[in-house]
Amino acid sequence: MSSTAQAARMSAPPGPRPFLPLAVFLAMRRDPLSYMEQMHRQYGDLVSYFPPGRQVFMLFHPDMTQDMLVTRARNHHQGRVMQRSRSVLGNGLLTSEESFHLRQRRLIQPAFHRQRVFGYGRAMLDYTERHQQRWKHGEVLDIHQEMMRLTLRIVGKTLFDTDVEGDSQAIGRALNTFMHLFKFAVLPLSEYMEKLPIPPVLRMKKARAIMDRVIYGFIEERRRSGQDRGDLLSMLLAAEDTDAGSASTRMDNDQVRDECVTLILAGHETTANALTWTLYLLAQHPEISQRLKGELDNVLGDRPPEPEDYPNLKYAEMVFSEAMRLYPPAWGIARTVVEPYEAFGVHFPKNAIVLTSQWITHRDPRWHPDPLRFDPQRWMPEARASRPKFSYFPFGAGARQCIGESFAWIEGVLLLATIARKWKFSVVPETRVELLPLITLRPKFGMKLRIQRH
Ligand code: HEM
Repeated sequence: MSSTAQAARMSAPPGPRPFLPLAVFLAMRRDPLSYMEQMHRQYGDLVSYFPPGRQVFMLFHPDMTQDMLVTRARNHHQGRVMQRSRSVLGNGLLTSEESFHLRQRRLIQPAFHRQRVFGYGRAMLDYTERHQQRWKHGEVLDIHQEMMRLTLRIVGKTLFDTDVEGDSQAIGRALNTFMHLFKFAVLPLSEYMEKLPIPPVLRMKKARAIMDRVIYGFIEERRRSGQDRGDLLSMLLAAEDTDAGSASTRMDNDQVRDECVTLILAGHETTANALTWTLYLLAQHPEISQRLKGELDNVLGDRPPEPEDYPNLKYAEMVFSEAMRLYPPAWGIARTVVEPYEAFGVHFPKNAIVLTSQWITHRDPRWHPDPLRFDPQRWMPEARASRPKFSYFPFGAGARQCIGESFAWIEGVLLLATIARKWKFSVVPETRVELLPLITLRPKFGMKLRIQRH
């Protein structure tokens, strides 16, 4: 070990120092949620360790999360997983950096203004109504699969004005492959392995080819028709960077492809997981499910929800918020230090990884007493105001805060209302629940629940 590395170890915050540095890397890779919990319990809010090649800092206090994501956003680039995802996502919003990222965000933002997202509400509701027409009283469904298909179709319709039903299986399978290759992407040297014709690389290439065929198809069809359909795709194709002021700042097909793949992936998997965990929690808490039904009956009578009902569905929003506290679809956020800095009495050197975790903070009893209890009352305005802002950050914060946050709230609440108005859920012997923390927090064996009409 070099003398600088040794000095870094000695002055670093506490953390595991196993004889073989690879041991911490493997422990984190095997079961990141339990490993972070153990680190937090054992060492406190600021933990450091040294897997091969670099230093990692875990930041578990809301003030530290704020510092990392907001105050020092400029000192960081994306973490290793996101950087490695470039082979799939290209240079879209999730993976691009600095001025290019800012420019793309500015161009894409108008598609996500709240008013515009309300306009997507109609499609969200129509698709959900149609989707659940296939459901039968008393059957056991894999709710995770149902939610994935539904949210994928909603993203396809709202952002690309296309019904992806025909392509949804192919897209779904390709996205699934990406997600499962996440563990490969974080391996040391994976950037070199990616050049070899080994099975995970071949699977990744095949998945990418399938996605590309579908997305380039959308783009070419739209360029040919020249039609402005008022959706995200038309906006991306028309967008020009007025600051730079030259025609060359239009996005080419490859850039539009990268943004589209990013939005499809980021825009359906997360919401599908959030809804799946919400319905699972409701299945376990009939009294909360009943109270939600009470609100829906009050607000809606016997008609289906309309987008305009959203602001009145307060309890539905509290239920959705609480489900994302217990099962945050994004369970951690990582960054790489590009500009070294001092904070909290610690030196954060260049190339170190900093990590904050919704999983840990959302379940920390200092901010959320009796943290494992599913209790939507925590989201009453007074209770909410009494907690530190960064004790809950399902959508991240700062320059990279989720661009689809309003979309997700409106979609989550409207879908929940449409579904919970008609159906109640219960766990059955086949319900086997285990967490699968890939890039998002998935249920490992899907989510088998019995559905019954109210
Ligand atoms: C419950 C649903 C969702 C959750 C929990 C969620 C969570 C997040 C989080 C935590 C980030 C920040 C990642 C980071 O800091 O590195 C993020 C970024 C992002 N999200 Fe979401 N998201 C959701 C829904 C959506 C939807 C519906 C869309 C689009 C339709 C979307 C598009 C994006 C994009 C493009 C980014 C990258 C933003 C950037 O780096 O500038 N998300 N999301």
